[in-house]
Amino acid sequence: MGMLIRWCVACILPLLLGFAGTALAFEDDEACLMCHKYPKMGRVTEEGVQKSYYVIPEVFSKTVHRNVPCRDCHTYITELPHKPVKEGVTCNAECHSIKNPATGKPFTHKPIYDEYKKSVHGREKTAAGNDADKPYCIDCHTNPLYNATEEAPPKKIVDRCVVCHEDRKFAEKWYNHTSRRIREVKRSPQEIVALCTRCHSDKQMLERHQRTAKEEGRTLGRKFLIAGESYDESFHGKVVKYGNTKAANCLDCHANTVNYYLSVHQLIPSRDPLSPVSPQNRVQTCKQCHLMADQNYAALDPHPSSKKEDNLFKHYADMIYGIVGDSVLALLVGMAWFETWGRWRDGASWRFRNGSSWWRRTRRKSNRISP
Ligand code: HEC
Ligand code: HEC
Ligand code: HEC
Ligand code: HEC
Ligand code: HEC
Ligand code: HEC
Ligand code: HEC
Repeated sequence: MGMLIRWCVACILPLLLGFAGTALAFEDDEACLMCHKYPKMGRVTEEGVQKSYYVIPEVFSKTVHRNVPCRDCHTYITELPHKPVKEGVTCNAECHSIKNPATGKPFTHKPIYDEYKKSVHGREKTAAGNDADKPYCIDCHTNPLYNATEEAPPKKIVDRCVVCHEDRKFAEKWYNHTSRRIREVKRSPQEIVALCTRCHSDKQMLERHQRTAKEEGRTLGRKFLIAGESYDESFHGKVVKYGNTKAANCLDCHANTVNYYLSVHQLIPSRDPLSPVSPQNRVQTCKQCHLMADQNYAALDPHPSSKKEDNLFKHYADMIYGIVGDSVLALLVGMAWFETWGRWRDGASWRFRNGSSWWRRTRRKSNRISP
C-alpha cells in the first residue's frame, strides 16, 4: 500500500531540494487542485494506513505524466464526494486527451501491459490472494520526474530550438521528453537488485508461493526460494553491492537484451526455453560480458547455495572453511587463556593504578621489573 501513496507523496522530496516556485507547466482544466493543493489533505483508511491526497503542483508539473489530465487516469471520479473506489487507476486505460503522435490513436500503455500480463508477474490490478504479491506497474514505477537532476532545460539548448520553433514552451516540452530517453535515465544496478530482492528475499512470501505451487501441481525454479540471498552471496552480487556497474544484475541475465525497455516486462522462468537463462541460452547470456564463456563457464552457478543437494563442492568447501575459521578462533582464545593461566601461576598480579596490566614479581625469578 505504501507504494501507492508514494505516487503523489514521492513528489515532496524534490520540492525540498528547491524546485518550488516555478510557474505551472500543466493545465489544471478540471480544477482538481482547487482542493488537492492543500498539504493536509488525506485520511487514515479502515486498515489504519495513512493516505495523502496532496498533489504538489510545482512537482507534478515536472513529472512525465504532467500533460495527462487528472481524470484521464482517475476515470472513476465523476462526482464529488465520490463513491468508494474499487479499482483505482489502471495502467492499460486509454487517454482521452493525448494521442500517440506516431499512430494518431489515443495513447495507452496497453502494449506494455499485454506483454507484462503474459510474464511471470502478470496480474490484474485488483488481483487477490497469492497473485496480489506480484508487482503491478505502480509497484515498480512511481510518477518519475523528467531529468531529476536538472532544475530547468539548459538555456543553451533551448535557445537553439527557438531559432526555428519560436516558442520556448514547445522547445522545453520536447527537450524534456527526448533528453530523458537519449541519456538513458534509468535505474542503477543497485536499484534493480533492491527492487527485485524486496520480494525475492522475502522468505515468508516465497515459501507461501512454494506451498501453493505444490498444491496446484506447478513447478517453480530450483532457486526460487533463495534467488535474492544467493545472488547477494555470488561474485556478481558482491561487486555490484560495492558500486561495480559492469557486473551482472538481475535484469542483465533474466531480461532479453533485444529491447531492454520492453523485455524487463517480459520476464519468464528459466525452464521456459525462451528465457535468456534457460539451459539452451545460458552460454549466450554469459557471453555478453564473458567473451570466452563456454558450456563449462555457463554452468557456474549465479545463485550459489550451500545446501548439499544443490552444490556438493560448495557445501564441503564452506564446511571446511567453517572448521578452519572456528579452529583459528579457538586457538587464539586458547593461547590467550594459556598465557593468562601461566602468569597467574607465576604469581603475577593485576596493578591497574600504575598503568600496567601485569606486575611481575614471580616465584620463578624471571621478573621483568627491576626491584
Ligand atoms: C471540492 C474539492 C475537491 C475537488 C475540486 C476535487 N477533489 Fe478529489 N477529493 C476531495 C476530498 C475532500 C477527498 C477525500 C474524500 C474521502 O476521503 O472520501 C478527495 C479524494 C480524492 C481521491 C482519493 C480517492 C480515494 O479514496 O482513494 C482522488 C483520486 C481524487 N480526490 C481525485 C480528484 C480529481 C482527479 C479531481 C479533479 C477532477 C478532484 N479530485 C477534485 C476534494 C476535491
Ligand atoms: C498517469 C496517471 C495519473 C495522473 C495523470 C494523475 N494521477 Fe493521481 N494517482 C495515480 C495513481 C496510479 C495513484 C495511486 C492510487 C491508485 O492506484 O489508484 C494516484 C493517486 C492519487 C491520489 C491519492 C489517492 C489514493 O487512493 O491514495 C490523489 C488524491 C490523486 N492521485 C490526485 C490526482 C490529481 C489531483 C491529479 C491531477 C493533478 C492526478 N492525480 C493525476 C495516477 C495518476
Ligand atoms: C518488476 C518491475 C516492473 C514492473 C511490474 C513494470 N515495470 Fe515498467 N520498467 C521497469 C524497468 C526496470 C524499466 C527500465 C527503465 C528503468 O530502469 O526505470 C521499465 C521501463 C518502463 C517504461 C519505459 C520508460 C521510459 O521512460 O523509457 C515504461 C513506459 C514502462 N516501464 C511501463 C510499465 C507499465 C505500463 C507497467 C505495467 C503494465 C510496467 N511498466 C510494469 C520495471 C517494471
Ligand atoms: C533549423 C531549424 C530547427 C531547429 C534548430 C530545431 N528544429 Fe525542430 N523542427 C524543425 C522543422 C522544420 C520541423 C518539421 C520537420 C518535418 O516535418 O520534417 C521540426 C520538427 C520538430 C518536432 C516534431 C513536431 C511535430 O509535431 O511533428 C519536434 C518535437 C521538434 N522539432 C523539436 C525540436 C527541439 C526540441 C529542438 C531543439 C533541441 C529543435 N526541434 C530544433 C526545425 C528545427
Ligand atoms: C512485488 C514483489 C515482486 C517483485 C518486485 C519482483 N518479483 Fe519476481 N515474482 C514475484 C512473485 C509473487 C512471483 C510468482 C511466484 C509464483 O508463480 O507463484 C515471481 C516470479 C518470478 C520469477 C519466476 C519464478 C518461477 O520459478 O516461476 C522470476 C524469474 C522473477 N520473479 C524474477 C524477478 C526479477 C528479475 C525481478 C526484478 C526486476 C522481480 N522478479 C521482482 C514477486 C516479485
Ligand atoms: C549471472 C546471471 C544471473 C543473475 C545476475 C541473476 N540470475 Fe536469477 N537465475 C539465473 C539462472 C541461470 C537461473 C536458473 C538456475 C537453476 O535453476 O539452476 C536463475 C534462477 C532464478 C530464479 C528461480 C526461477 C527460475 O527462473 O528458475 C529467480 C526467482 C531468480 N533467478 C531471480 C533473480 C534475481 C531476483 C536476481 C537479482 C537479485 C537474479 N536472479 C540474478 C541467472 C541469474
Ligand atoms: C552484464 C555483464 C555480465 C553478465 C551477463 C555475466 N557476467 Fe559474470 N561477471 C561480470 C563482471 C563484470 C565480473 C567481474 C569480473 C572481474 O572484475 O574480474 C563477473 C564475474 C563473474 C565470475 C567471477 C569469476 C570471474 O571469472 O571473474 C563468475 C564465476 C561469473 N561472472 C559467472 C557468470 C556466468 C555463469 C554468467 C552467465 C549465466 C555471467 N557471469 C554473466 C559481468 C557479467
